[in-house]
Amino acid sequence: MTSTHTGEVDVHTLTDEVIRSFDGTPDRRTKDIMTALVRHVHDFVREIEPSLLEWENAIEFLTAVGKKCDPVRQEFILLSDVLGVSMLIETINDHHVPGSTDSTVLGPFHMTESPSRELGDTIDEVGGPQHLLVMGTVRSTAGDLLPHATVDVWQCNDEGFYDVQQPDTQPAGNGRGLFSTDEQGRFWFRTVTPSHYPIPTDGPVGTLLSATHRHPYRPTHIHFIAQAGHHRPLTTHIFMPGGLYLDSDAVFAVKQSLIGELGTADSGQSALAGVEVGSPVLTVDLVLAPARSGGADAL
Ligand code: BEZ
Ligand code: FE
Repeated sequence: MTSTHTGEVDVHTLTDEVIRSFDGTPDRRTKDIMTALVRHVHDFVREIEPSLLEWENAIEFLTAVGKKCDPVRQEFILLSDVLGVSMLIETINDHHVPGSTDSTVLGPFHMTESPSRELGDTIDEVGGPQHLLVMGTVRSTAGDLLPHATVDVWQCNDEGFYDVQQPDTQPAGNGRGLFSTDEQGRFWFRTVTPSHYPIPTDGPVGTLLSATHRHPYRPTHIHFIAQAGHHRPLTTHIFMPGGLYLDSDAVFAVKQSLIGELGTADSGQSALAGVEVGSPVLTVDLVLAPARSGGADAL
């Protein structure tokens, strides 16, 4: 790398000087974060050597990201999602316990409380085609079925929109449900089959995707947060098998282990859930790791 001198400022000694300016930071973690941030950002700038116009454009882009945010739209999270940063942070914090279900990103649409529902209810409130039964269990890594576990579910409709994206046509709570497992650790509900969908593209993140010829789609999935006493909460999705975009998720959140099993209802499932034998059934097994000590498992 060349060492450019601009007056008294050297492109390398400047980095040291800025890092030294944080020497008095009382909190150790803050100091380490600021030091690493300056080191990496300066390396990045030295590598790409932006023109003044490019820097202005970058500032304008980040300003537009901030301006797009409101109580139901978080463009910074979306930016972090499409850059793979959300998934990286998710993976770093996963501390996976063998046998437990993999976690994946929360996403921006878990922003309202899911309505409590009874086992077997539909989560569809608009009379869409209810052609999917979701049958699940919540278990521990030791293999015990967990009764009274809570299972929070949210999904988009069959056209790819969450309730919060269509407040005029979908009632709040459509496609959402908060369930409690039965004595055998089971939960089940009926729903419309969700669709793959584009993440919101009407903001600067959409502009970034189209400028880089990236598609905005997420493969078809249902979101779950499962919680049970003495276990780590699990935030995950179950993806529909065989759908589009499983190998090119716009937010990099697919794990092979999270692709669900789609079958058809047998007579037992039909009797339990009141659906016809042969109806489509998505099977979901959520396996929770034991809780860690010291409150490290808060959502
Ligand atoms: C979601 O699955 O709801 C989602 C995740 C990341 C970005 C946009 C949507
Ligand atoms: Fe989603």
